[in-house]
Amino acid sequence: MEVMKAIKTRRSIRRYKTTAVDDKTVDLVLEAARWAPSWTNTQCWRFIVVRDSSIKAELAETLVENPAADAVRNAPVVIVACAELGKSGYYKGEVATDKGDWFMFDVALAMQNLVLAAHSLGLGTVHVGRFDAKRVAGILAVPQGFHVVEMTPLGFPDEEPKDRPRKELFEIVFYDKYGCQ
Ligand SMILES: Cc1cc2nc3c(=O)[nH]c(=O)nc-3n(C[C@H](O)[C@H](O)[C@H](O)COP(=O)(O)O)c2cc1C
Repeated sequence: MEVMKAIKTRRSIRRYKTTAVDDKTVDLVLEAARWAPSWTNTQCWRFIVVRDSSIKAELAETLVENPAADAVRNAPVVIVACAELGKSGYYKGEVATDKGDWFMFDVALAMQNLVLAAHSLGLGTVHVGRFDAKRVAGILAVPQGFHVVEMTPLGFPDEEPKDRPRKELFEIVFYDKYGCQ
């Protein structure tokens, strides 16, 4: 699928068919994540592929009042993205900018690659950020020094959501100086 078309036609999917997703397909979307750019190529991301129903149910419990909770419980696969801290945004062991640890940025780049690749293969995803990350780290035995950033269900869509509106370019783009159109 052409990149621009994939970007524009991807939607957050919160209802999934029970149809299985094979390991080869999961590897394909992880491969897209693996090729994302990262701070000095530090690749701080780590991915946990969850297929076990009881673990998915435990993960879903960490999403409170979140419309994606059932998707995490019911999708055939959930991919949880973690980051090693102290890598992205660092130079010679010191924070290198005034923005601290850039792990959220690098993981977001990888996960957006992943969701676009999934969409190009006919699979649905939704970036899920609102959950109890400490509880998830406990459930998945994520070691000290790593942070759970986000998760996405992965499976064949069982809905066709309408596109959500986006701001127009004139609302978000300035020329030469902030505010100048
Ligand atoms: C960083 C991030 C966190 C998000 N967290 C959640 C979430 O916890 N639950 C949820 O249902 N959707 C979540 N979303 C999905 C957004 O609500 C969705 O992308 C947005 O409404 C635009 O819709 P679209 O993805 O269909 O274009 C998240 C998206 C991003 C980028």
